[in-house]
Amino acid sequence: MVHAEDLKRRAAAHALTYVTDGMRLGLGTGSTARHFVELLAEKVHGGLTVLCVPTSEQTLAQAVSLGVPIATLDEAGPLDLCIDGADEIGPGLALIKGGGGALLREKIVASAAREMIVIADASKKVEMLGRFPLPIEVVDFGVNAITRQVAEAIRSAGCAGDITVRRDGDGHPFVTDQGHLILDAHLGRIPDPAALAAAVAQVAGVVEHGLFIGLARRAVLAGKDGITELEP
Ligand code: A5P
Repeated sequence: MVHAEDLKRRAAAHALTYVTDGMRLGLGTGSTARHFVELLAEKVHGGLTVLCVPTSEQTLAQAVSLGVPIATLDEAGPLDLCIDGADEIGPGLALIKGGGGALLREKIVASAAREMIVIADASKKVEMLGRFPLPIEVVDFGVNAITRQVAEAIRSAGCAGDITVRRDGDGHPFVTDQGHLILDAHLGRIPDPAALAAAVAQVAGVVEHGLFIGLARRAVLAGKDGITELEP
């Protein structure tokens, strides 16, 4: 049996073939993105020139420790390519992201890139989004009121399920790199991701949600039989 970490690394290695000298890159967050940054660092040490914008403090620390050249998004300007993982990859390359809590910076960086490539092991591909809880980043002011309104928005989009405030390992509310909280919406199925995205985005206090629609241009999936590339 092939280990999931091996598959993630293979997807990351394949995505590296899309990186060319001089590119400005967005670096994703999570275990698959971590493999990509490690492999990228090897290329950098071999002479590849890139300038990279990390999507989290975690990825920033990794990139710095490996000697990958980094910049803020505003220093870098428009990006050529963003490479990131995903929690689920649905039809049309609609994604759920934010399992690691970095969805806000991830969406800003992906939106600033000419192209986004998603890397994952093949188990992340689904027929319908929603089994993975949808992360929703909110401000911490009036979180109970915000949660009730998010629940109403979710119902209006034809979905239903429990909403929980994400906690860290110590049981405290998880705080994002931007100082916000995360609601996880346990929906099971999301028949119309675009309708849900529009409804949730309208709630006052919602900063961003983990539905990435129309952003990914390509998915690189690694399975036991090899690499598969998907386009929307
Ligand atoms: C981080 O906030 C997420 O969007 C990650 O990209 C996502 O959770 C994928 O992580 P893994 O590569 O660890 O599965």
